Amino acid sequence: MFEVLPRMAPDALLGLIVAHRNDTNPKKVDLGVGIFKDEEGSTPVLSSVKKAEKIIWQTEETKSYIPPGGTPSFIAALTNLVLGADHKVIKESRVRTVQSPGGCGALRAAAEIINKANPEAVVWASNPTWANHVPLLSGAGLMMKEYAYYDYDSHSLSFDAMMNDLKAAKEGDVVLLHGCCHNPSGADLSDMQWEALVPMLKEKKLIPLIDVAYQGFGRGIQEDAYGLRLMAANLDEVIITVSGSKNFGLYRERTGAVIYIAADAKTAEIIGSQAEKIIRGIWSVPPSHGAAIVDVILNNPELKAEWEGEVAYMRRRITDMRALFVKASAEQDMDFSFINDEYGMFSFLGITPQQVKILASKYAIYMAVSSRISIAGINPKNVEYLVASLKSVIRSS
Ligand code: LMR
Repeated sequence: MFEVLPRMAPDALLGLIVAHRNDTNPKKVDLGVGIFKDEEGSTPVLSSVKKAEKIIWQTEETKSYIPPGGTPSFIAALTNLVLGADHKVIKESRVRTVQSPGGCGALRAAAEIINKANPEAVVWASNPTWANHVPLLSGAGLMMKEYAYYDYDSHSLSFDAMMNDLKAAKEGDVVLLHGCCHNPSGADLSDMQWEALVPMLKEKKLIPLIDVAYQGFGRGIQEDAYGLRLMAANLDEVIITVSGSKNFGLYRERTGAVIYIAADAKTAEIIGSQAEKIIRGIWSVPPSHGAAIVDVILNNPELKAEWEGEVAYMRRRITDMRALFVKASAEQDMDFSFINDEYGMFSFLGITPQQVKILASKYAIYMAVSSRISIAGINPKNVEYLVASLKSVIRSS
C-alpha cells in the first residue's frame, strides 16, 4: 500500500530551523520561523511560566484525562483574555470555548465544524496568508479562495482590493482574518478597516474566522483584540482560534483554543456539544500541561501581572528591532521604512527568491523564500552584518 505514496518535500518553514542549526558560520542569522528570541538569540522559558510550572508540580494530583472540551478554569480565563471579561457575548451566554492542541489544533477543529455545518462554505484567505492555514483548513475538506490583501509594490495593505474581492463571496462563506500581527506581512487592518468590514460581513452574511496567534505582540494585549471584539459585538456568528505558543512562549506545549460565538445561548450550547464530538474523533481529549500553565498564570493576579510585563518586553523588543533595522538600512542607503509601520513578528523584505537563496548560501542568513523575516532574529550584534550582506546581495543582482 505505501508504495503509491510519493516522497514529500520537508516543510519549508520548519526546514529553516534545521538549515540554520546545521550552518557552521559563526555569523549566521536566523530570521526564519516565528519564534521570539532575546538579544542573545535565545528563547528562554518565561519566568511567569516557570513559576506556574512549579505550582503545578506541587499541586497537581493526577494525570487522569481532562474533559474533551478542556479544563473549565482555563477556558474561562482564556475567553476573558481574548474577548474581555465584560464582553456582551459572554453575558448573553453565546460563547463556547474548547481547548485545543495549539492554534493548529484550533484551526483544524474549527474547519471540521464549519464543514459539518456547511460543506458548501468557501474559506476566503488573505493573499498571502500563513502557509499552514491552507492544509489545516482544506485538509478538513473545505474549499479555499484568496482575497487580495498585501500590495508588494507599495509594501502596504490593499484594503480596497480586499473589499472588492470579497464581493464574490456567497452567503455562508467564511472569511479568515488575522486578529493582529498579520503573518506573513505584518500589515494589520486598522481599527477603521475592521469597522468597515463589519457591515459588509453582516450584509453578505459571511462568517469571520479570526486567527489570533500573536495577541500582545502588536499594539498591546487589549489593543490587539479590538477587531475581534468588535466583530463579536456586532455579528451573530464568529469563530476565533487562539494560540498560546507565542504570547506565553509555550510553542512545544501545544496550547490553544477555539472560541465559538453563536446567535443565541441555545445554539452556543449545541455548538459546544458538536465541538466536543469532533474533538473526541480527532485527538479525543486535549493535552493538559500548557493549558494548565496558562490557567495558573491568568488566575493568579501576581503571575498575570508578571506575564503582562513579559509580553510587553517581547513586544517592545520586536518594535525596537524594527526601528534598529530600518535605521541601519537607511545608513546603508536602503529604504525599509515601511517595516516601522508594521506589527508583530514578521515583515517582507521584498527581495527575490534568488536573493533569499544567496543570503542563505553565502552569508548564512536564513529567511522564508517569500523574503518574510522574523524580526526577533535581529539584535544589536547582528544588525550591521545583516544590513551589509543585504546591501551587497541587492546591489550585485
Ligand atoms: C511561523 O509562521 O513561522 C510560525 O507560526 C511557526 C509555524 O508553525 O509556521
